[in-house]
Amino acid sequence: MSLQSIIDDHQKKALWVGGKGGVGKTSTASALALALAESGRNTLLISTDPAHSISDSLGQDVSGGDIVKVEGIEGNLSALEIDPAKAIEEFKENLDSGSDSMNELKSSMSMLGLDDINETITESIPPGMDEALSLAKAIQYIENDEFDIVVFDTAPTGHTLRLLALPDFLDSFIGKLMKMRVRISNMFSSIRGLFGGSGEKDTSMEVMDKLKESVKNIKEHLQDPYMTEFIIVTIPTLMAVYESKRLLASLNQFNIPIRRIIVNQIVPETIDCKFCLSRRASQLETLEQIEDYFGDFALIRIQQQEDEIRGIESLRNLSRMLLS
Ligand SMILES: Nc1ncnc2c1ncn2[C@@H]1O[C@H](COP(=O)(O)OP(=O)(O)O)[C@@H](O)[C@H]1O
Ligand SMILES: [Mg+2]
Repeated sequence: MSLQSIIDDHQKKALWVGGKGGVGKTSTASALALALAESGRNTLLISTDPAHSISDSLGQDVSGGDIVKVEGIEGNLSALEIDPAKAIEEFKENLDSGSDSMNELKSSMSMLGLDDINETITESIPPGMDEALSLAKAIQYIENDEFDIVVFDTAPTGHTLRLLALPDFLDSFIGKLMKMRVRISNMFSSIRGLFGGSGEKDTSMEVMDKLKESVKNIKEHLQDPYMTEFIIVTIPTLMAVYESKRLLASLNQFNIPIRRIIVNQIVPETIDCKFCLSRRASQLETLEQIEDYFGDFALIRIQQQEDEIRGIESLRNLSRMLLS
């Protein structure tokens, strides 16, 4: 079960790369995305880490929250660094421009000296909503036919687990918002009746309906073993291994499919340096623990390279190692 089989598996629509900070998530995600693109698949690399670093890894500026085409490769690779603030602005605009009746409602309410409905909705947007919306946006790229596959470079464990818990959170929040909206709509109908207003359709409910539907899709996508795989990256240190165990346990709880674990930054045997050799000895002990504990998974071992992994050529080298 090497990584080559992921490249060959055309049913796969999404690869998530996760793990502790600094283990090599971004390098791995970028290298895999590059390999996929150069194998002929139209690939999108998305960073969900607020401390985006795919620009640094690719050696090209792909920041700004929009999809950017990656240059200098043989194939189609695009990249996107998700901007949570942008996602929430879009959501608010959708709610706002969703309906003429919303504007009518606002003026009727202020005539009656009531609160501004927009403020009520905006104020009840809970923390985490921006990221939930970003996730919903990212998942849309899996569904749309523009890309064959999406590779996610995720934030360190804790943040990513919160992100993956968001569909449940979002579901209940939208439910509350919709109930509130129904109540306000009913009130509005009575007011409109008084003023003899028209019966225009309020499309902001549709916006929320669509959002609710996409939340359901997110969960189905994340749990589908044919479409999705979450790859854990770790290094042979006890701290990293403990964290990987916790990550694995949480992903299992979410029913997210995992089959492969990448063990990165292994000090090569051939190295001629006392310090490195002693480090290697302790890594070998930890590797044994990794083999014991993660025995059910395909382990992909990657050696520590002399240089940092940066730029297309360097990523190509890493992808060769990952796939062999
Ligand atoms: N096998 C490796 N050999 C040499 N440098 C590596 C290796 N894997 C990762 N790095 C370097 O380690 C640093 C952290 O890697 P990165 O992919 O950004 O990790 P993460 O995304 O998990 O924080 C980067 O400078 C990267 O180039
Ligand atoms: Mg990273």
